[in-house]
Amino acid sequence: EGGVPLLEEGKLKVCTHLSYQPFQFERDGDVVGFDVDLVDLVAEELGVEQEIVNTPFETITTGAAFNTGECDLAAAGMTITPEREEVIEFSEGYFDANQAVLSKADSGISDEAGLAGKSIAAQTGTTGLQYAEENLGDAEVITYEDLPLSLQALQNGEVEAVINDNGVLYDFAKENTDYAVGFDIQTGEQYGIAAKKGNTALIVKVDEVIGAAREDGTYDGIYEEWFGT
Ligand code: ARG
Repeated sequence: EGGVPLLEEGKLKVCTHLSYQPFQFERDGDVVGFDVDLVDLVAEELGVEQEIVNTPFETITTGAAFNTGECDLAAAGMTITPEREEVIEFSEGYFDANQAVLSKADSGISDEAGLAGKSIAAQTGTTGLQYAEENLGDAEVITYEDLPLSLQALQNGEVEAVINDNGVLYDFAKENTDYAVGFDIQTGEQYGIAAKKGNTALIVKVDEVIGAAREDGTYDGIYEEWFGT
């Protein structure tokens, strides 16, 4: 079986951190999204079913979710970073991302200077929070456990802006036209699918499957489904 260690009970247990629309989110009782479709291709290739496990984001980035055997893979719109690469195994990049700042459409916040003296929500353990802590010193950064709580804080008026990855914030603004992305921050991130440190056999499989999907148009079809207009 290509050197991939036997998976327990014919399942591919995939950790994620909900909700991160359109990468992984609940719809009609199912977890769906771009990442889910991509990992389904891997499960199919291995002849098993993908079983999604919702877990705190930092459980994934620290490797704890793999070390306890809670999951075989993780797909969570997760950026490949040097720090994370030390403790988990990453696939090749499968999606380009940058940071973005969302606020009320009429807020006038259109650059970093415009955030001075304002409060901004960031998600625990993410690259967006790291960016805010390092670069947005003139703003009050407030952390929330997940994306929906960050967006809710904006809608409640608890904060005046949200920093997170461009894909999820543009998706939200598309459906909530009172809000808009005021500006993007070119952080040049790439999402990777992860496994337990040292489980290169499974990661090689992931890279093969995604590589093939890019070549035969399957990747573009999935992209179109979740990001097409
Ligand atoms: N890309 C960012 C990071 O890796 C945010 C990911 C958040 N993902 C999630 N499923 N909530 O830090």
